[in-house]
Amino acid sequence: MDTAGCAVVTGAGSGIGRACAMRLSESGLALALLDANGEAAEKAAAELPAAAAFGVDVTDETQVADAVREAAQRFGAPKVLVNAAGIIVRKTLLESSVEEWRRVLDVNLTGYFILLRQVIPLMAAGGGGSIVQIASIAGHTGYGFSSYTAAKGGVLALTRQLAAELAKDGIRINSVSPGVVHSGLNRDTLSNSAIHAATVANTPLGRIGEPDDIARAVAFLASPDAGYVTGTDLVADGGMISTIHWGPAGDELHSFHTQER
Ligand SMILES: NC(=O)c1ccc[n+]([C@@H]2O[C@H](COP(=O)([O-])OP(=O)(O)OC[C@H]3O[C@@H](n4cnc5c(N)ncnc54)[C@H](O)[C@@H]3O)[C@@H](O)[C@H]2O)c1
Repeated sequence: MDTAGCAVVTGAGSGIGRACAMRLSESGLALALLDANGEAAEKAAAELPAAAAFGVDVTDETQVADAVREAAQRFGAPKVLVNAAGIIVRKTLLESSVEEWRRVLDVNLTGYFILLRQVIPLMAAGGGGSIVQIASIAGHTGYGFSSYTAAKGGVLALTRQLAAELAKDGIRINSVSPGVVHSGLNRDTLSNSAIHAATVANTPLGRIGEPDDIARAVAFLASPDAGYVTGTDLVADGGMISTIHWGPAGDELHSFHTQER
């Protein structure tokens, strides 16, 4: 198939990964859609002009290697990699079992490493490209769930580390840190009205994010418009971590100077 190359997207069957695949296809790239839910990846592929779906667990290097090789044979060298497959276990440190901790780190950090290991040599041989890793505001600030926060902090650090390592191969690497976004990951928590309202109240732009809000940031970093950008993180959170949230005391603070005392 004659395409401009291929984009490998993990977690492409749902939410942010799926939206990234849709956006990236607009640039003429064929898509390799990897997801543990192969059926969901197939459904996403059916909506794209040039795409192949792979039911793959990103923690299994053999499965990933086979999928990446097959995609490169079909569509040409990967020009873009988006690491998005992720899970969350909503437990505090002491509530988390060693197995739960390992699984979150395994999918959200080691899974990214496995994709990087498989894609980078092909991308370098094809003349370079752009990698975008989905991190999280949880990698910047405490979020309540230790294993998830630790994994996302790892993604931010790994991304910075790799910028220098990959530059010689013509590969840029950046991350995007979403705030709270409607997706499969938090469908359960956002269906709770108190959590929903608190999220909106703590987001200066006044709404929960949509997967395409993140996909557009990813598409920018993947594009030549970001040709001088590598080793950095783009926070796309509606302003959530840009400010201290004072709650009802905020109005008091704001009007304090007008009061006589
Ligand atoms: N939704 C948010 O509010 C939010 C905020 C910050 C960061 N993120 C990150 O965005 C990324 C995408 O998540 P989402 O919010 O779109 O959730 P989602 O649940 O809608 O999508 C995640 C996808 O990853 C797949 N997946 C899970 N484990 C996998 C594995 N081992 N191998 C292959 N595929 C696997 C799932 O099948 C699913 O299709 C994740 O890295 C997540 O941590 C999400």
